Amino acid sequence: MKRIIINGGNKLGGKIGISGAKNAALPVIMAALMGQGESILYDVPHLRDVNNLIKILNALGAKTEFKDNRLLVNTNALNKLEVPAKLATQMRASYYALGALLGRYGEVTTTLPGGCKIGRRPVDLHLKGFKALGAEINRDGCIINLQADKLIGDKIYLDYPSVGATMNIMMAATMAQGETMIENAAKEPEIVDLASYLNVMGAKVKGAGTNLIRIQGVKKLQGREYTIIPDRIEAGTYIISAAITNSQLYIDNVLVEHINSLLAKLREMGIKIKEDVNGVEVIANKPLNAVDIKTLPYPGFATDLQAQTMALLTQVKGQAKVTETVFEDRFGHVSQLKKMGAKIKVEGNAAAVQNSNLIGARVKATDLRAGASLVLAGLAAEGQTEIEDIYHIKRGYEDITNKLTNVGAKIKEVEQ
Ligand code: UD1
Repeated sequence: MKRIIINGGNKLGGKIGISGAKNAALPVIMAALMGQGESILYDVPHLRDVNNLIKILNALGAKTEFKDNRLLVNTNALNKLEVPAKLATQMRASYYALGALLGRYGEVTTTLPGGCKIGRRPVDLHLKGFKALGAEINRDGCIINLQADKLIGDKIYLDYPSVGATMNIMMAATMAQGETMIENAAKEPEIVDLASYLNVMGAKVKGAGTNLIRIQGVKKLQGREYTIIPDRIEAGTYIISAAITNSQLYIDNVLVEHINSLLAKLREMGIKIKEDVNGVEVIANKPLNAVDIKTLPYPGFATDLQAQTMALLTQVKGQAKVTETVFEDRFGHVSQLKKMGAKIKVEGNAAAVQNSNLIGARVKATDLRAGASLVLAGLAAEGQTEIEDIYHIKRGYEDITNKLTNVGAKIKEVEQ
């Protein structure tokens, strides 16, 4: 088991390049199963979740080659429609097999996933969508089997704009007969990316990025080349690394329009951010002002940046309030930040954060973004921080220790 060790208190400087987006790559890789022949995907990040997903593709009979962020997927020999339980339960994104395989083959079996333990995370909206398209749903405990002689387009209203449900229903509807409308759809940039890739393969998806997505079913999709968008959450995390260490950093390969909600809050705190076509320059000079944040579906403040922002809010003047509305129980980082001296008080879905002197401590990554918040806190803390269970962090950050070392952080990975 590896740990991350950080000696905090150093300023950072230079440039960090952002990788392809995990949350776009995962559904796009699964959607590659829908195309006949070969797809070549570029800017695919080397991450635990991606490697696990590739194992799922291979278990289904697809051929893959993954090198230098280029992933080739060939579906000619695909011969299974059941995701092995051992692989499916490793990650939530394995449930994208439901939409992709139901859409192309009219049948799929998988086991419901684990992934981040954040709240209850049900899949009722995904299933409601598949049912509306005409799929028969058979459940045996955690095992789900979907079958349909044919899928027929329908109007589907999502009670909540769920990212996963929007993507799953969009994939299945791509090859249904007639038109599907997804109302109250999620608007995240990763949904637009998946829709763009499906369209490059021959699908007819319109309106992705708005709350009404219209899909005209087509008979077949053809494997194609596609480049994944940059990871807005990774970008946000490194932008905060400059802010929390009172440094100047250039973050390269950022689509600034994807992180406007974060940048607005950082500017309110008093951090200077200069935008250009490739990325952003962050210039932080303490003292910073306290701001309140409230997570919301896109374009609201991203829940995936809540933990990292909370670490930063321990370093501002006065008291800040963080409200989490997307997930229940997404404050796993609080107990760990407190071990480092953070003054945080949680009441229900809100946390009051006070200016704190962070001191290095031995802490545990309880989930992916909680782990990222501990890395950030460790960079700002006095003395040494040791982070355990870093496999969570590796699910979502490509090369994190190298990227931070290159800008002057004292961070390393060691065997336990
Ligand atoms: C995705 C992201 C995750 C991000 C989240 C919100 C991936 C692989 N993960 O997760 O990083 O934090 O979007 O931006 O892209 N819900 C239901 N019923 C459902 C589905 C969801 O009630 O059928 C609820 C969830 O419990 C949660 C809320 O909807 O409270 C949002 O979940 P959702 O948007 O589906 O997130 P994910 O797709 O799981």
